[in-house]
Amino acid sequence: MLNDIPLMPPNASTFASQVDLLYAFLVILSAVVTVGTFGAVLFFAIKYRRRPGVAPGSMEGSLRLELLWSFIPGVIAIGIFAWGAKLYFYGVKPPTDVMDIYVSGKQWMWKVQHPTGQKEINDLHIPAGRAIRWTMTSEDVLHSYWIPAFRMKKDVVPGRYTEMWAQPTKPGEYHLFCAEYCGTGHSKMIGTVHVLEPEAYQRWLSGNTGDPPDVAGAKLFESMRCNTCHAAGQGQRGPVLDGIFGKPQPLKGGSEVIVNEDYVRESILHPLAKVVNGFEPVMPSYDGQLGEEEIMQLVAYIKSLKPAAGGAK
Ligand code: CUA
Repeated sequence: MLNDIPLMPPNASTFASQVDLLYAFLVILSAVVTVGTFGAVLFFAIKYRRRPGVAPGSMEGSLRLELLWSFIPGVIAIGIFAWGAKLYFYGVKPPTDVMDIYVSGKQWMWKVQHPTGQKEINDLHIPAGRAIRWTMTSEDVLHSYWIPAFRMKKDVVPGRYTEMWAQPTKPGEYHLFCAEYCGTGHSKMIGTVHVLEPEAYQRWLSGNTGDPPDVAGAKLFESMRCNTCHAAGQGQRGPVLDGIFGKPQPLKGGSEVIVNEDYVRESILHPLAKVVNGFEPVMPSYDGQLGEEEIMQLVAYIKSLKPAAGGAK
């Protein structure tokens, strides 16, 4: 029975060993300090115990000792900070060559879209050896996406996108949890991450087809009639969107905004919040008309638009 409860979750990402090493160091350091402190207390309590007829002598402080036991722990503490900061930056900066996975959390399930169009609920199939980036949002309340085997966890927040990344190393099945209490079904908001060999992943992909998010987004862009205002030429009332993703956009009033996932999402739901310079605040809000999955598809579509080389897409 006790064997069913593992001491540590499996180690299945490039980040996991790094986190485990720091964690092991902290545990060992704490153990050494604890044993040392209690050992000294015990030793002195016995050595300097009250004896009949012996008066205690007077004690002077030792500057040298005090400096020593301030300086050494100080250096260790700063070292732990630097070590932790290094891991933090590794954990928040994905490499440039990543595979995007779009997640939306909902009471009480995890919905996933693959860049190649597959969708799944509470399951996630990914290839081993590939850096994965999750772009996540929630349709209702706060959730938190947690894959202990990857040592990665990130809050999933309604109204904005959060990101995390990991590179799975070992094929296998791993637990997926919601790590933020989100209502009565919280404990059931769990799933399985299936890390597959690259060939097995390709086989899985070909057995589950669907529109890739950017293609689904392109269809939505048309069916929601976004193209009537966002295409160059007659009737153009909004900026042309080709190639704007990742670039600064000048706003009415003189400020600037970098076009990222959050800005595109805000512009769809609250178009008047940041109006692009040179345009009138005339766009209607699509709040309530689009679900988070659809907004993600539109974002993926706009992200996919290359700068117009003569002629709009
Ligand atoms: Cu979702 Cu807890």
